Amino acid sequence: MWTFGPGRGQCGAMEQAAATEHYDAIVLGAGAAGMMAALTAGQRGRRVVVIDHADAPGKKILISGGGRCNFTNIGTVPDRFVSKNPHFAKSALGRYTAADFIALVDRHGIAWHEKTLGQLFCDGKAHQIVDMLAYEMRAGGVELRLGHRIESVTRDGEYVVIANGTRFTAASLVVATGGPAIPQIGATGYAYDLARQFGCKVVEPRPALVPLTLGGDALAFRGLAGVALDTVAKCGKAAFREASLLTHKGLSGPAILQISSYWRHGDSVAIDLLPERDATAALLEAKRMRPRTELRRVLADLLPDRLAGVVADALAMPGNMADQPNAKLEAAGRRLNGWDFTPNGTEGFAKAEVTVGGVDTAGMSSRTMEAKAAPGLYFVGEAVDVTGWLGGYNFQWAWASGWSAGLVL
Ligand code: FDA
Repeated sequence: MWTFGPGRGQCGAMEQAAATEHYDAIVLGAGAAGMMAALTAGQRGRRVVVIDHADAPGKKILISGGGRCNFTNIGTVPDRFVSKNPHFAKSALGRYTAADFIALVDRHGIAWHEKTLGQLFCDGKAHQIVDMLAYEMRAGGVELRLGHRIESVTRDGEYVVIANGTRFTAASLVVATGGPAIPQIGATGYAYDLARQFGCKVVEPRPALVPLTLGGDALAFRGLAGVALDTVAKCGKAAFREASLLTHKGLSGPAILQISSYWRHGDSVAIDLLPERDATAALLEAKRMRPRTELRRVLADLLPDRLAGVVADALAMPGNMADQPNAKLEAAGRRLNGWDFTPNGTEGFAKAEVTVGGVDTAGMSSRTMEAKAAPGLYFVGEAVDVTGWLGGYNFQWAWASGWSAGLVL
């Protein structure tokens, strides 16, 4: 049964407190991971209810991939995920693969295409993925309770969830409430509260796949909003060759979103403005070939015009190329191949696609997602300290972790 608002038979406060519904498993959160866990368990014959405070399931799926849902990545391998324990995701990702999800999508006749870098998108709209998951949940007899505010979760032999005055009980509880990215559509950090309540640790959650903000010395770059260029962005050992975009607040674009998952306050991000090109060699060659040309004009042939001006100002090398000592050109070349920015922050959870950090995997089974501290309690999807790169990896983690839990509920 699919219900919005108060559960069945609910009308007055007295009746609400009295109503109890018993299931094999309660899933909190009707997002990607929660629906996958529920449909998997439901199709195994388990009685499952999914509870969500939103008025519709899968709201993040609907806004994902620019409305076309980048639902998986055919290049999914565990090293494309950030986690305190990089090995944790291997088991689930190895057992429920991109090919498994593609087979499901194909069974539903949903047309898709590969855009770039193994990223698969619907040809049509993202709601096709939500409709597919909803259909599969119905096929498994899963009940969905939308518009339900969770009042409490306790364990009294079984797990007891009170929501909208109804008492839901089950031996298994799956927490699939995601992370706090995009609170505007109902995202919360509720999973972390529940984790702590049941004795599980939480790795500090931070916004990820998020634009970085610039201040101080880099302010001049903020005047270049809209300029995009091919780059390699590096932070520590992580490096991404994709486009970077300058914004009114700082830096964005795929390369920056990717590197943001590795960035921490105080870190610098080195951006190669001329990837696969030796900038020093290019400048020395320009000195030989165009000695009477200003550096600014040479740069304008290498970089987008407006960026060339700001870079030339920052390099502060007046005069023609012939006036520039080789050592200075070499230093300028090194900067062009690794321009150091020290972001002063990120645009926060309001603009982040996902969360880095979450429920600590050290306290979980990598095969079933069950919490070691609380038998019968499972965490799946973004709530867990496993965060994928941009490009369909996060949904693949949601499907794989949800499926892994759904198999054992
Ligand atoms: P998800 O957030 O999907 O679901 C959590 C559910 O729990 C929601 O339905 C929410 O309402 C509910 N909930 C939360 N708190 C609750 C509470 N206290 N009580 C009751 N219910 C509660 N990934 C990808 O692989 N490809 C892509 O194209 C994109 N694109 C994209 C675009 C944008 C704009 C964003 C913000 C994110 C993406 N992502 C993405 C990331 C992807 O959306 C994300 O990783 C998954 O949705 C996570 O799935 P979960 O089921 O874990 O959480």
